[in-house]
Amino acid sequence: METPITKKKNIFSAIQPTGTFTLGNYLGALKYWVRFQENEDYNAIFCIADEHALTVRQVPSELRNRTLEAYAMIMACGIDPEKSLFFIQNHVPAHAQAAWILNCYTQFGELSRMTQFKDKSAKHADNINAGLFTYPALMAADILLYQTDIVPVGDDQKQHVEIARNIAQRFNSVYGDVFNIPEPLIAKVGARIMSLQDPAKKMSKSDENINSYILLTDTNDQIIKKFKRAVTDSEASVKYRNGKTGVSNLMSILSVTTGKTFEQIETEFEGKGYGDFKTAVAEAVIAEIEPVRNEYERLIKDKAYLEQCYRKGAEKASKIANRTLGKMYKKVGFLPL
Ligand code: TYM
Repeated sequence: METPITKKKNIFSAIQPTGTFTLGNYLGALKYWVRFQENEDYNAIFCIADEHALTVRQVPSELRNRTLEAYAMIMACGIDPEKSLFFIQNHVPAHAQAAWILNCYTQFGELSRMTQFKDKSAKHADNINAGLFTYPALMAADILLYQTDIVPVGDDQKQHVEIARNIAQRFNSVYGDVFNIPEPLIAKVGARIMSLQDPAKKMSKSDENINSYILLTDTNDQIIKKFKRAVTDSEASVKYRNGKTGVSNLMSILSVTTGKTFEQIETEFEGKGYGDFKTAVAEAVIAEIEPVRNEYERLIKDKAYLEQCYRKGAEKASKIANRTLGKMYKKVGFLPL
């Protein structure tokens, strides 16, 4: 990919290196990343957010492995480093450098309102570190360094993209047009895939109950078992509506994986029990995930190729990011070296 130039829109998104992503990450984000990559109207830029991962305590060797696994898994999902700019956050120091500056244009009050901060500080009460609090400023740096127009994310990240917009507007209002103002893009269906065991919670790999999530590395048998155990209700009717969160969640999964509308799914399963319905959902998910899993198994063995890809990605990304960082340094009044 060439350096992003005029006219084409820049899209940027990132994911934390949990290594094994969930079906939620895939349907809410990764699937859309590939669509943008294949659309000529966009420059697609993607990053593995390993610096964000440090806001929760990590085992160093595991973080290293997971970062590489995440890189391979995203390629297995269809991201091609020849078509997209695809790199690892810590390899482009401009992210951390820009984040410091943006921290100084971010208010304590607005950071305190972030739902993710509230949730994570409740969950990790013994480690409410400053990084967890200022996480959105680093995320703003990620986005703003690439003069991003659109940020495709799942529903849970919308608030962070909005604060990035506010920070960009604030900076621009002091210094002139330094940053493009990004827009979040949330998918209509799939933006919030829920837990299979408690459909009031989002599907998350940090859930203690392994039956609550599907991993992209799960075997076909595991996928079938997990969907069979998925919580529904006692009505035995496949309908998308309030009060039927379990069934509605499974319908969303079926809709995003097959392209069928909710009406089509309702008609198809009229008068049938949940057994048939759950099997259909599991089969649709397997059809989507099995090729990804096979490609991942192939790629993860080829460490030299992966290294070549992320090295190139870091070089290209640094060029773009340093251009914006240079502007920021000049505007805030740093004495150049
Ligand atoms: P992360 O790593 O938690 O999630 C990556 C992407 O997956 C989406 N997602 C979901 N979508 C639907 N249903 C779910 N159950 C589900 N769980 C996760 C997330 O919304 C996200 O789009 N802070 C970000 C990473 C990040 C970033 C950025 C994103 C760092 N810098 C700049 C965009 C732009 C995060 O932790 O996502």
